[in-house]
Amino acid sequence: MAMRVVEVPLGDRAYAIRIRAGLTADCGRELADCVSGRKVLLVSDDRVGGLYGDRVAASLRGAGATVATATFPAGEASKTLATVERLCRAAVAAGLDRGSRIVALGGGVPGDVAGFTAAAYMRGIPFVQMPTSLLAMVDSSVGGKTGVDLPEGKNLVGAFWQPERVLADPECLLTLPACELRNGLAEVVKTAVIFDPGLFARLEANVPKLLAPDLDFYLEVIARCCELKAGVVAADEREGGLRAVLNYGHTFGHALETRMEYRIAHGEAVAIGMVMAANFAAANGELPADAARRQRELLAALGLPTSMAGVDPDEIVALMARDKKTSRGELRLVLPRDIGTVEVRKINDPARLRAAIAAASRSPGGCCAGQVD
Ligand code: GLY
Repeated sequence: MAMRVVEVPLGDRAYAIRIRAGLTADCGRELADCVSGRKVLLVSDDRVGGLYGDRVAASLRGAGATVATATFPAGEASKTLATVERLCRAAVAAGLDRGSRIVALGGGVPGDVAGFTAAAYMRGIPFVQMPTSLLAMVDSSVGGKTGVDLPEGKNLVGAFWQPERVLADPECLLTLPACELRNGLAEVVKTAVIFDPGLFARLEANVPKLLAPDLDFYLEVIARCCELKAGVVAADEREGGLRAVLNYGHTFGHALETRMEYRIAHGEAVAIGMVMAANFAAANGELPADAARRQRELLAALGLPTSMAGVDPDEIVALMARDKKTSRGELRLVLPRDIGTVEVRKINDPARLRAAIAAASRSPGGCCAGQVD
């Protein structure tokens, strides 16, 4: 099976993302230099742990690691400081020291929680990301953002803590629930709209392969998304500027998630958010109408919602103003200029913003609310 390797060039914290079908079963070989002769805490949720935990643990043991495992219930509700405490105590019980490793196996939640545990345990030990969801493969496992939620909001406690290596096995997409595949596809479309018209055109031309899912095509798509993200992370690791473009669709999306009390999947909210951002840019004459149409049609073809009925634009604007990414009280949005180009812009015309939200609040093709990840 073909393998793609993407380097994240971060000096003494540089690492490689290795992508290959079947990697889960022989991860020990790929990680022997990290884990051989060391203690490892393998962290997962109960769904992914049940599917892949045994084969990963066996492979790591085959590479000479002493492996203990820890799991927690699947879902965002586990992304808490209480889970971090439980994992830290599991690490103590397993005898992990500063030379030990944490391996995060799963989607965004296990990656974020296990990564933050690694950042905090004994003031920081190395960790490996083994993303099993599409969203984690193309986005959250790369770039070192780790953290947990508070009752007051998502991702409010965390650390930048880069993994030592990322291993992505596209075969895991075969067991991914359809809703989770769509979640990841929203981030794939997002990446293409931000950076790469060629990738966008390939996605448009290969919708059946994305939905199937065709693992050879996914190998290329995941590698390209990782390459593009690695470039941004290398240029702006701690989101001082450029990295903020990765939040395209997310300021609208977070407001919709909050409004729906998370009864909408993240990718669905981001998809609607991208449509709202494109509506706004097109209404300002800053985005060709054809680009807005292509984005909307690709999202719809992938089974993602492009509108949501019953949204009150005033309420969404108020929630957006509360987003933690507003700076000095100013609302800044990532807006598309064309397929493959975005800009971060200060917003001072709220009436147009409300109109762009309203335009995505009434057309047919609304979201499948209730599919919470
Ligand atoms: N998911 C956005 C970022 O990693 O910066």
